[in-house]
Amino acid sequence: MIIICDKCKTRFQLDISLIKKTLFKVRCSKCEHVFSVDTSPKEDVYELTPHNIAPDKKIIAICNQKGGVAKTSTCLNLGASLSLSGKRVLLIDFDVQANLSLLLGQKNQLSFYEVMKKEAEILKIVKSVRPNLWLLPANSKMSLLAKDCLQQKDFGFFLRNLLEPIKSHFDCILIDTPPSIKFFTPNALLAADFVIVPTQAEFLAMNGVMQTENIIKALAKTHLLDYRVLLTMYDEKNTASKVVFSKLKARYKDKMFNTIINFDFKMQESQIVNQPVIFYDEKSTSALQYKALAKEVEAV
Ligand SMILES: Nc1ncnc2c1ncn2[C@@H]1O[C@H](COP(=O)(O)OP(=O)(O)OP(=O)(O)O)[C@@H](O)[C@H]1O
Ligand SMILES: [Mg+2]
Repeated sequence: MIIICDKCKTRFQLDISLIKKTLFKVRCSKCEHVFSVDTSPKEDVYELTPHNIAPDKKIIAICNQKGGVAKTSTCLNLGASLSLSGKRVLLIDFDVQANLSLLLGQKNQLSFYEVMKKEAEILKIVKSVRPNLWLLPANSKMSLLAKDCLQQKDFGFFLRNLLEPIKSHFDCILIDTPPSIKFFTPNALLAADFVIVPTQAEFLAMNGVMQTENIIKALAKTHLLDYRVLLTMYDEKNTASKVVFSKLKARYKDKMFNTIINFDFKMQESQIVNQPVIFYDEKSTSALQYKALAKEVEAV
């Protein structure tokens, strides 16, 4: 578990599996302060209630119609990093593939589909996955959403309308989207106030960024959205990647995050054990980079 020194606020990872007591004292290795740690289960860690909305509240859609550019990995690890800084974070799996749900070990859960069919209440299907981190899962029935919503007049605002009554429960909401421009991505963009466009330093992925940029511009008449491009899975030893990276920087300038996510095998290992890389190996390159990204996102 994560413990935080009362005095200097340093965070530590503590393995409590060998400690028999639930209430004990520890000494901070940084400032020497002695403080109590209570590991007894606390209902309120996972409690979901409306609370004061943070002034920098954000609903962030993570989009690129190119597949496999780390949209889901970014949603998971950025969300987990933001939750570590005390923010109450909701991750939304808005993709029929349900990869985000799978990465968190949540298979065949109720989804937006059952909510739309009035078979489930939205707050009841939200899963608590860690302190400060919740998931709104996806399932394969969501492929029927687009067809069923088509008859509704506010088709594009399906997600936005559903989130309205629950958004005050969270400081930050991250929406993972599929590699397509149909139904899910426009709905996520219309629900969001900020967009992250992950891309690999590859020619075709760069094309996906431009197409996503075009959709954002097309929506701008009625719905203004700020966005940043995020370079993912970067391998600086690859010359072609370096060329595409410099093209991206020239085109997007300050619309690119300073943080870059490198290619890191730890990321793939972490997914096998259903853990965000920031918990699997907090010192790994990608863990440190996603934590840096969280700081940058908070500052935007
Ligand atoms: N920094 C990284 N280093 C190494 N591998 C990575 C990294 N980020 C993501 N991956 C791997 O790349 C693959 C694609 O990642 P991910 O599923 O997040 O992409 P996606 O854009 O969500 O894909 P889709 O478009 O299918 O939804 C996964 O196998 C993931 O483990
Ligand atoms: Mg994905």
